[in-house]
Amino acid sequence: MKILGIDIGGSALKGAPVDTTTGRLLAERFRVETPTVVTPAAMAKIVGLIARHFNWQGPIGIGFPGVVQDSRIFTSANLHQRFIGCDGGKLFATATGCKVTLGNDAAAAALAEMRFGAGKGFQGKALLLTLGTGIGSSLCYRGIVVPTELGHLPIKGKSAERFVSSSARKRRELSWEEWGTELGEYVQTLERILWPELIIIGGGVSAKSRKFFKFVKPHAKMVPAKFLNEAGIVGAALSVEQDKKLQAPTSKLP
Ligand code: BGC
Repeated sequence: MKILGIDIGGSALKGAPVDTTTGRLLAERFRVETPTVVTPAAMAKIVGLIARHFNWQGPIGIGFPGVVQDSRIFTSANLHQRFIGCDGGKLFATATGCKVTLGNDAAAAALAEMRFGAGKGFQGKALLLTLGTGIGSSLCYRGIVVPTELGHLPIKGKSAERFVSSSARKRRELSWEEWGTELGEYVQTLERILWPELIIIGGGVSAKSRKFFKFVKPHAKMVPAKFLNEAGIVGAALSVEQDKKLQAPTSKLP
């Protein structure tokens, strides 16, 4: 199947058509920067622009950086607060005129990594963490992906992602060693509770794993994501095949 995958991130949206039988991008990805926090209506316009860029009329899978249940958005830690309570599936279906599956961005990345990437063929318990503007997380077991929100584990009264996401490293001007060591404490806390056998680290920073993996020191085997930053696009497309109830466009905005 050919499905358009779109990854909504804290600072940019990226999309590309994906061959879901191979996990390959069928065209060069199209990226739109969002330097300011945009409203749901403005975001819907950008999603519409991406669909039009590819002249797309088929199904679309979209990963969103927040809790999504049954296409409704429940949290939006790093995007506009007006997303909370919004039926994102309907919003984006209406903006594109296509059927849409909306899910969590890290759950999408986990689908891609477990099907075609660093977790391919792995049947044990895997934890995927994406380190970007926030921290995304999912637990995977025997082909099932369970979205989680481990980036919001409280540290000193704040979400862990405020300290150990990739953007926190830049904002706090930490060296790779300082950041890697704090990330290690966080990862070890997660390990105490979840005991994954494999940890997959995604997000743009996973391309620099040589610089910080040595400081993390997990109990489990830890590997960078194979798709690096593209897992979100591929996984969003894959999520469509699992969706029994795609959101169709409506004439009225929700
Ligand atoms: C959100 C998650 C998301 C992660 C990565 C967090 O702030 O709560 O849902 O997966 O950022 O984008």
